Amino acid sequence: MREEEPAEKTPEIMYERLIKNAQEILVQNEDRGLIMPDRGYYEGVWLWDTGFIEIGEAHSNPEAASRRLFDWISQAQWKNGFVPHILFLDKKVERYFPGPEYWQIETSSNRPAAETSGITQPPVLAFCSWEVYEKLKTESPDNAKDFLAKMFPRLLAFHQYLIRERDPEQSGLVSIYHPWESGMDNSPRWQEALAKIPVSQKQIIEIRNLRRDVKNLKNQWAKEGKNDTEALEMALSMRPTDEDYARFFFLLNFSKDRQYDDRKIYREIPFNVKDVLFNSIFCASNQSLLEIARELKIENSEVAQIEKYLEKQKIALEKLYDPETNLYYDFDVKNQRLIKRKTIAGFMPLITGMVPKERAERMAKIGQSEDFSLNKGKFLIASTAKSDPNFHSQSYWRGPIWMPTNWLVAKGLEISGLKPESEQIKKSLLELVTEKGFYEYFDAQTLTGLGRADFSWTAALTIDILKQ
Ligand code: GLC
Repeated sequence: MREEEPAEKTPEIMYERLIKNAQEILVQNEDRGLIMPDRGYYEGVWLWDTGFIEIGEAHSNPEAASRRLFDWISQAQWKNGFVPHILFLDKKVERYFPGPEYWQIETSSNRPAAETSGITQPPVLAFCSWEVYEKLKTESPDNAKDFLAKMFPRLLAFHQYLIRERDPEQSGLVSIYHPWESGMDNSPRWQEALAKIPVSQKQIIEIRNLRRDVKNLKNQWAKEGKNDTEALEMALSMRPTDEDYARFFFLLNFSKDRQYDDRKIYREIPFNVKDVLFNSIFCASNQSLLEIARELKIENSEVAQIEKYLEKQKIALEKLYDPETNLYYDFDVKNQRLIKRKTIAGFMPLITGMVPKERAERMAKIGQSEDFSLNKGKFLIASTAKSDPNFHSQSYWRGPIWMPTNWLVAKGLEISGLKPESEQIKKSLLELVTEKGFYEYFDAQTLTGLGRADFSWTAALTIDILKQ
């Protein structure tokens, strides 16, 4: 006789278990009161990871989430308002590359006391602070107001930095000057702009020798008595190539050699792009910053400047829309044209709430098409469309599915009035992590978990989806 299905199999119990597992990962990845992306490789605390992680954490402990957000920004932020993409907890790191010794931020008089990187990342912090505030408010309205009051000047200074230094021409769009600033490191969006950067074969070889991820794999295999060249190449095919790395280092050195002086960098750097993802997030974060100002009853010329910029931003974002393909694209300042590569970034203006509903519907259909959702019956958007010549189902941002970008599209669809489509993405994300685990990213074709296991933002955003 067939036994009855055990009670543990009910969706409620499975989801309770999923939440518990996700929470355990976040505890395991905590270091000195902050949460790292994983335990084992990423030695530091990243900007946009932190924002997403605290959105998830705020469901069970909004007080701790708000404390960590403030601790993070108050240690990481530079004197000119700039917020770096990594806050290192130690002066020297062993596994992550490039660590503090490469950034050498001491060349800048704006550096904070802590060790950090010298480039930024998508400015999610105001947007995330508002989400954390809303959860904290129901638990403790006084603490919630205090949190906003502490965050506001820092968030304002960051947004002012972006407007002042990254959009000196007042176009309504801010520039990134390193692919890492986009958060989508090796996206094919950067191919053309990067091609302008000359790298020699010698530099490419040097980079391979510097890469700690390569060194660590080799050491590990040597200990096991293996010399597995093939396996190394296989592992590396999931990460940016040595040639990409050589160009990433050219740009990193470019800023460092100019003492992180934005005026000089902006004028001279060969890579200057108005990234559609970065600017959509900045637009959403400007809206959150204004909500924070209203909640704190702050009305002054600085707030008025943000309001004015937001209006400009909405007009400028609209110019990134291409009616022929129904997606948005980045603008390459050096080449003076749109970068027409189909990636998940093209959906990001949905989170600004300014995409008309019938356009959002067309965009959702593109997301569901076989070009982006490669798995039948699931709505999971690949980081790069299958039709792109650089599509690779396992290579980092050239195909794999990532939790945070899919979460952003789900959020955007909901904001744009497409709740059923948004729910479809969330359901597919839950099935994905239930079946495969909380991986850093997933093969776009087979959905195999790739990169690091037990990844913080994957776990935290799962909690957010389940607790909503
Ligand atoms: C990789 C990702 C970036 C992320 C970081 C830490 O560099 O490309 O988006 O913030 O890892 O998780």
